[in-house]
Amino acid sequence: MSDLRDLAGRPVIIGGGVAGLMTALELAPEPVVLLSAAPLGSGASSALAQGGLAASVGLDDSPARHVADTLAAGDGLCDEAVVKRIVEAAPEAIEKLERLGVVFDRTPGGRLHLGLEAAHGRRRIVHAAGAATGSELMRALMAAVRVTPSITIVEGFEARRLVVEDGAIAGVLAEGRTEHVTLATASVVLATGGVGELFQDTTNPLGCFGQGLALAARAGAELADLEFVQFHPTALDGAQRPMPLISEAVRGEGAVLIDEAGRRFLADLPGAELATRDAVARGVFRHLARGHRVFIDARQCIGQAFASRFPAIEAFCREAGIDPEIQPIPVRPAAHYHMGGVAVDAEGRSSVFGLWACGEVASTGLHGANRLASNSLTEAVVTASWAAKSVGGATAGSRKIPAETTMPARSDPTLARNIVSHAMGILRDGDGLRNAAAAFRPLAAGSSAAADPAVVGLMMVVSALHRKESRGAHCRTDFPLRDVVARRSKVTLGSILETAAELDATPLARSA
Ligand code: SIN
Repeated sequence: MSDLRDLAGRPVIIGGGVAGLMTALELAPEPVVLLSAAPLGSGASSALAQGGLAASVGLDDSPARHVADTLAAGDGLCDEAVVKRIVEAAPEAIEKLERLGVVFDRTPGGRLHLGLEAAHGRRRIVHAAGAATGSELMRALMAAVRVTPSITIVEGFEARRLVVEDGAIAGVLAEGRTEHVTLATASVVLATGGVGELFQDTTNPLGCFGQGLALAARAGAELADLEFVQFHPTALDGAQRPMPLISEAVRGEGAVLIDEAGRRFLADLPGAELATRDAVARGVFRHLARGHRVFIDARQCIGQAFASRFPAIEAFCREAGIDPEIQPIPVRPAAHYHMGGVAVDAEGRSSVFGLWACGEVASTGLHGANRLASNSLTEAVVTASWAAKSVGGATAGSRKIPAETTMPARSDPTLARNIVSHAMGILRDGDGLRNAAAAFRPLAAGSSAAADPAVVGLMMVVSALHRKESRGAHCRTDFPLRDVVARRSKVTLGSILETAAELDATPLARSA
């Protein structure tokens, strides 16, 4: 791989979704390497994003309202300063995307068409092609990246280890289909997405098992709030993986949730079908657990306009044999977004020198315990520019090729998926989490194909075990109340392994 080794010294951006593409574009004309495990455009959750970007650009809206809604959804765990900074930067991010060629939906009068999603007090979701915002963003950003000469795209290589020397990033060990390479670099930006593949039911694409979290954790980075996984209440109930999403925007246009008897079973929930996502997901989950079926009914409120308002959703419903104009759509919750991630500061820097993170893999403090819908694409675009500025300002340095690191076995998340799905679902309890930690510990300490997914799973279940309260998306049946004082969870792989060893040594300590 002599051609790849010639790229030594350039910042390496790992991940080809919106966060990775934006970071690369923001760094131009500085030469960078964009490393993507899958061909660019496939394998990224961004491409599947339906809702859009939340931005307070409506005439009846303000950043203060957007901040207030974000804090309320985050259930006491958001970092208010970060929320303000991202929300205030959102309108400019929309303009930047338009300059890069993204075409957003507009009203006949030419204003941005704004959708409504759960827990937003105003219409503020900027979207494209109805509910195909992610694929439109990816189309435009990939086109921009491909004509930017400073960006070298390396597709088909998966980052498997970060090389750390003297406490600083020194390289990336990447694995291709038939070969591997160690890229020498002093600057790495993780933009690897979420953890949906650790769940049986997920809207995330294959490959999203938290590889970025494993990379960062093994490099010694601090991680935050790993127990907070958002379940989307309305994925299309069927065998397809990833599960197609019936966007919250459909409920924003008035669609309701009904059961097989046609009963609106969430009508009494404050906010009803547009309550915060965690509350709606729990309501749907509990109704299903009682033996009911759950459907989105858009017949009255959208009816004949469904195909023109939501063409992509209409298309996959039809593929599944459902006509949303005249039939209710069967749904159930699915793992959708990870609020936790690599702990980063206001410039996207992790605790490891030379390592940044942005997008879903990062934990900035924006989302708290429950992400407000459509805040994440906004966050990815805004924080990519912060990270790029910080990477660009860091001392470059052509690094010598670091010592060869052993290539780990190719990851297989199957074992971890079974354990995480069981223990880390919408409702959790101490026994389930302790059993999961015990199952993960030997896998995480080993070197099999299950090791990296097990490292991620172990960090998540131990974080969930330590949070002895119910808050936002983290619902413990054995600790149903919310603590008076909110605290973020900060862990390292070292601290997690120590705790897991203590748990193993005290199997009867049921209060842990
Ligand atoms: C949706 O369209 O319902 C999803 C939007 C999001 O997850 O932010």
